This record gives sequence, structure tokens and C-alpha cells, in this order.
Amino acid sequence: MNTFQQQILHGIPVELPQAKKYDLEINHAPKRKDILSLDEKKLAIRNALRYFDKKHHEVLAKEFAQELKEYGRIYMYRFRPDYDIYARPIQEYPGKTEQAKAIMHMIQNNLNKAVAQHPHELITYGGNGAVFQNWAQYLLTMKYLAEMTDEQTLTIYSGHPMGLFPSNKNAPRVVVTNGMMIPNYSKPDDWERYNALGVTQYGQMTAGSYMYIGPQGIVHGTTITVLNAGRKIAKHGENLAGKLFVTSGLGGMSGAQPKAGNIAGCITVCAEINPKVVATRFGQNWVDEVITDLDILVKRVQKAKENKEVISIAYLGNIVNVWQKFDEASVFIDLGSDQTSLHNPWAGGYYPVGLSYEASNKMMAENPEKFKEKVQESLRLQTTSINKHTEKGTYFFDYGNAFLLEASRAGADIYLDSPTFQNRKNPPQSRGAVGVREFAYSSYVEDIMGPMCFDFGFGPFRWVCTSAKAKDLEKTDAIALEVLTKLKLESPTEIQQQMEDNMQWIKGAQENKLVVGSQARILYADAEGRSQIAEAFNQAIKNGTISAPIVLGRDHHDVSGTDSPFRETSNIYDGSQFTADMAIQNVIGDSFRGATWVSIHNGGGVGWGEVINGGFGMVLDGSEEASKRLQSMLFWDVNNGISRRSWARNDGAVFAIKRAMKKEANLKVTMPNSVATDLLENLF
Ligand SMILES: NC(=O)c1ccc[n+]([C@@H]2O[C@H](COP(=O)([O-])OP(=O)(O)OC[C@H]3O[C@@H](n4cnc5c(N)ncnc54)[C@H](O)[C@@H]3O)[C@@H](O)[C@H]2O)c1
Repeated sequence: MNTFQQQILHGIPVELPQAKKYDLEINHAPKRKDILSLDEKKLAIRNALRYFDKKHHEVLAKEFAQELKEYGRIYMYRFRPDYDIYARPIQEYPGKTEQAKAIMHMIQNNLNKAVAQHPHELITYGGNGAVFQNWAQYLLTMKYLAEMTDEQTLTIYSGHPMGLFPSNKNAPRVVVTNGMMIPNYSKPDDWERYNALGVTQYGQMTAGSYMYIGPQGIVHGTTITVLNAGRKIAKHGENLAGKLFVTSGLGGMSGAQPKAGNIAGCITVCAEINPKVVATRFGQNWVDEVITDLDILVKRVQKAKENKEVISIAYLGNIVNVWQKFDEASVFIDLGSDQTSLHNPWAGGYYPVGLSYEASNKMMAENPEKFKEKVQESLRLQTTSINKHTEKGTYFFDYGNAFLLEASRAGADIYLDSPTFQNRKNPPQSRGAVGVREFAYSSYVEDIMGPMCFDFGFGPFRWVCTSAKAKDLEKTDAIALEVLTKLKLESPTEIQQQMEDNMQWIKGAQENKLVVGSQARILYADAEGRSQIAEAFNQAIKNGTISAPIVLGRDHHDVSGTDSPFRETSNIYDGSQFTADMAIQNVIGDSFRGATWVSIHNGGGVGWGEVINGGFGMVLDGSEEASKRLQSMLFWDVNNGISRRSWARNDGAVFAIKRAMKKEANLKVTMPNSVATDLLENLF
């Protein structure tokens, strides 16, 4: 057994490892709000010390108190292992079950410093998307995974491994819950308080469920969004050549925008306030040019428009200034959006205009009330400027970052019934939202992802080759393309465009060099596509074409799995967008139909308390059981979401679920009857 394997099996070391230096080369999480009372701080230390032998308490109590003071959280930096963390070939992990080893591969990928946003704080993406709350949880979890058998299940409570419990071969090996709160305790400050106490965490979507595959997932989703947004604004079926897309953020997910803009063929201007982040994306060739001066930016964009260039430009500065400057200089914006981290507005997700990056960081820690005022003022200014552009014809959409929600909370002029919009020549039309005042703009799911993809069952299916071999990934690409090509021949016209886009994507995937971290691929596919591709992989593992197990999964941002009224389920108009039954049903249903692990989270994308989302991981090992599991679970996993969308009367979903019922005799879904509108006229 090598040292890495021995260390995994040791779990939390018996003797204290050397204290670690705070590495300034690494991108660290911002200092969190000082929210705990004195007694609560003592409780946080007691909670943290639970993981350690009493003989270490004196040293660690002081150290953890210092971490809490300096960073607002106890990360237990000292216990960060010395070995490199990355998705190793599956056989390098110690263990008694291939399923648990595959989960270790996925966890280590989420914490790889080439993949994770704040690796030392165990945060994968989105500023606060945590895999674990501290290093003790990581060490203990890896030890349990290495020790467990196929007759046990590990339960993870918001990063904390509660323990191994007897179960059975067909049960999930791991069940994860993240941030599950009693509903009344789910306000942003509750996350600050209970996370600082060490009893909950924000798992985002694929961070706390070990399913993050680097920026590739988001490049694909963003490309599909920009392409379809382009189709939406095209007057004569033209493409995006010479059209301008303005947005913000070059971070974990937002950083995909310039690359996606290039693939979709437009001019992209993406504002980013953090110079380190700009340098990273430029260094990775994810953005073509960097401009720091607004006048130069205007000239450069005008030239790009004249020449119909396909180019992406990072503007180092505040997005609000870009919207304002382009209005003054009469630069027409075709597509507009925003991807600052507004799911986390008060702790570094959004930088207000008029304050430097450094001044903002200082103010949010030292004077959070004043900082909140500045953020809200900035959101009002940004909205006013966006409104001027949309009056001139810009198509603006919310990119799932809670922009509309936070702008409305800031008192910005953003409601559909406001005179600003009602007095326009072509006022925006109501989409039929209930229980809330409707926004003048749509979310990308309402206009694009929902009706064009999710309602038909198309969503971000993904797989990971646990051999860690590029060759295996290449083989899976070829298999997936072969399956899609066959399926396209018999696909109805309604889904031909989706099939076409995805075949293009998989053909270009190798060339676009999208792998960062594990050997993973994403592909938008419907239930049939997912099952058939998975079955073909399982056969290829069985006959040795592929050398090791494959992990299947998906983003939580999908057809099913996520109830989020301002994002994934924003195109549901029967009132049920504020319920979370579907996400819970999904994860329970996945768990007894064969998932290897399942997870359910509060928060993710749009923020703590605003969404419930879940997902799964499934290990294919070439066995007959794996084949049965994938057929049963993938069918349910997608069709559960379609049936809910169909019951909400979404046309695409009605079409898709009827088609699924024709193919599967055991599927019987309750269908909605339509009601004549005039019947409702004089009832009250
Ligand atoms: N890409 C997608 O498909 C997608 C889907 C759903 C949701 N989202 C949401 O998008 C948001 C961004 O995600 P992320 O992972 O990139 O987060 P991130 O925190 O890594 O990146 C956001 C970036 O915005 C920058 N920023 C903040 N305020 C700014 C301002 N005023 N001007 C210019 N730059 C500013 C920050 O410096 C940061 O680098 C999140 O809320 C996420 O949930 C993205």
C-alpha cells in the first residue's frame, strides 16, 4: 500500500500535522461576515473540536478561534493533506467497493486546485459552493469510503459524515443532504450563522454532490443558451455574426460566456471587476482581448461590428459602467445579460459601481450595512441603464443569478406593470406569473432553456471515465455520436434542432479541448438519448473497449431535480413553481431505482432559501445489474420532470410525455385538460 492510500485510511491523523502557511498564490474565499455572538463563537469552537482527541484541544481551540476571527469560518487548514488532490485513476484509491472508489475520484476532482474556485476552503464554484465545511470532514469521509462495503450506506449531513449504516447492494452507497433547513430558518443570514457554527453548508448544485466537471459543463449550457437567444432575436433566420452580447462575470461559471459567445459566433463584451480573474481567463485563452478603458472599448466594439468579427473582450471594471457608456455612445446591444454572483449579494457576489474592488472587500467585512446600501444603489443604476437599452431593442435576459430578484428587492424599476414598460410602444406581455409581481424581463429558462430544452427532456447529462484516460473519453465520444446519429433518424421534427446542436457539440468536443480535471463529457440529451448512450457505455465496459467504470450524472440544473421559481422552474405557470415536491420526489425515486449516490440541497444558483435541487451519480461497471439500474433510473429521472411540466400545461412537455407513454406501457401519467378562457370570464 502506498503513502497516499495509507493516508486515506488513517483519516484524521492521530498526531497533529504541521500547521500550514496561508498560501497567497491560491484564490481564497473572501472573509465571511462576523455574525456570531460570543457564546455562539464558543459553540463553534466546541463543535469543531468534536472531531479531535482531547489531547489536542488546547492547541486547536486557539487556532480555530483565530481562523474564525480572521476568515469568519473554521476551515481547519492544518489538516489539509500534503498529497495532491485530483481525480486519480480509480485503481489508486484504497477500498472494498468500486462504487465508493468512484465517489472518491469525483470528490477529489471537485477539490482539485486546477478545478476548484477556493480549493483550500473546500469551495468548488459560485463563491460558496462547498464540498465540505472543513478538512476534518474531508478526511473522515475519504476514510469511510475506503472502508465501506456494498452492504453499507454513508450519510453526509452538509459535509459532515454522520457514519456508515448497514443497507444493501441495491441501495445508494452515499446519501448527501446540503443546507436542509426548517423553512423559516432559511434566510441568507441563517446560512452565515449556521455555517459559521459548523452545522450546515451551501452545497450549490454540483459542488456538494461531487458532480462538478470543471468549466466544460457550463460552456456547453452557455453555448446552447446564446445560440438559442440568437435564434429568438433573428428576424430572418440570420445567425449572430456582427451582433453584440454584453454581460458580466468571468468567474467559475460566468467565465464560460466569452468562449460560448465565440462558438456561437458573436461579439462578446464581458465586464469583470477582479483583475486576478481576468488574468486567469485571458491566460486560459477563454477571452480574446482585455480592455481597461471605456472609450477604447467603444471604439473596439464599433470596429468589430463593422467587420462582423467573432471576438470576445474582457472589460476590467464594473458592468454598470459598460451599460451606461454604451448608452451614451449609442452602441446598440443585441443581447444583454448579467452573471455576477447575485445569489450571494452581500458577501462578494456583486461589486457595486463607484467603489474599487479593494474598497468593496473592506466595506463588506467592516460595514456590511453600508455595503448592502451600495449594492442596492448599484443595482438600481444598472437596471435603469438596462431599461434604456431594452427600449432601443436590446433583448435582456436574467441568467439564473437572481439578478431580477435582487434588483427588485433593491427597489429597481423592473416590474412589468411599471409605467416605464407599460408606456412603451410594444410593452412586454404578461407570462401569467402568480403570487408575485411579474418582472419586465424573462429568465433564460422561461424564454430559452425551458420551452426549447427542458420541456422536451433535454438537459445536461454527463459522464466521467474513472480510468482518468483521455483515450477512454475519446471512445465514449464516438459511442455517443453513433447513438445520437441513429436516434436522430427516427426523431420527430420538434426535437431535430436539439439533436443537431448536440451532435455538432460532440463532434467538436475533442478539438475544443474542454477537459479540465477529470476525463468528463457533457451532452444535452433526453431520456431516450441518456439511456441508450449509457447502455452502450455499459456494453463497452463489459467487452473491454473501455478500460474502467464510468460515472453517469447530470447538473442539478436540469429538466427534473430542481425546483427554483426564478430559474429551472420559471417557465411553470400553474402556481406550482413555488412548491418543491418535484425535487424531493426525484431524489427519493432515484435512490431506490439504482443511483450510486444521491444528494438534495437547499440553495444553488439563485441562493439559499430560493431553491431545492437534487442530483445523482451512477457507476456503470459493465454488469447486468448496472444495465437494469440505468434503464430504470434514467427513465424516471427525466420523465418525472417532464410529467410535472406537462401537468403545468407546457406544450413541449405534453408532447414529450405522450411520446414516452407510447414507448413504455408501464408509464401512466395524469394529463391536464385544457379550459376555454372565455369560460372563466364572468365567474366572479
Ligand atoms: N452560467 C450559467 O449557466 C449559470 C446558470 C445558472 C446560474 N448561474 C449563476 O451565475 C452567477 C455567477 O456564477 P459564477 O460561478 O461565475 O460565480 P463567480 O462568483 O465565480 O463569478 C462572478 C464574477 O462576477 C464578478 N463581479 C461581481 N460584481 C461585478 C460587477 N459589478 N461588475 C463586474 N464584475 C463583477 C466577480 O468578481 C466574479 O468574478 C451565479 O449566481 C450562478 O449561480 C450561472
